Amino acid sequence: MKIAIASDHAGYDLKKIIVEYLKELGYVPYDFGCNSLDSTDYPIYGEKVGIEVANGNYKLGVLICGTGIGMSICANKIDGIRAVVCSEPYSAIMSKKHNNANILAFGARVVGSEMAKLIVKEWINAEFEEDKHIKRVNMITKIENKQSE
Ligand code: RB5
Repeated sequence: MKIAIASDHAGYDLKKIIVEYLKELGYVPYDFGCNSLDSTDYPIYGEKVGIEVANGNYKLGVLICGTGIGMSICANKIDGIRAVVCSEPYSAIMSKKHNNANILAFGARVVGSEMAKLIVKEWINAEFEEDKHIKRVNMITKIENKQSE
């Protein structure tokens, strides 16, 4: 599976670790930047990955900034994106099972690299429980549609 990934400067070092980890797990990560520790602006990357996932070019996306918060706010501005910030695996798993989250965000200043790996692995492996939860996820889409009317 192809996975879109991006970070700002605060998430850059952790992103490199997660990119390697995704490869070890057999996934194909595509890095949408940033490419150094130089200060940059998280909305650039949150929007990029959000658009790629919303367009269906990538099924899932991973965003890393200092907290995960700025990235998730930006990605969630894009129709079709359900981005979540998770600092532990339980929420990450439930975000897929119940909310069909398609972007996972977390903070390099919040979680260590081993916790981040576990969160990523469990989130990717978890599956949307469509039968029980599709109705509510469709209701989220309706909220988006109302905004663009
Ligand atoms: C950058 O200092 C920081 O604001 C950013 O990485 C992120 O945490 C924003 O939500």
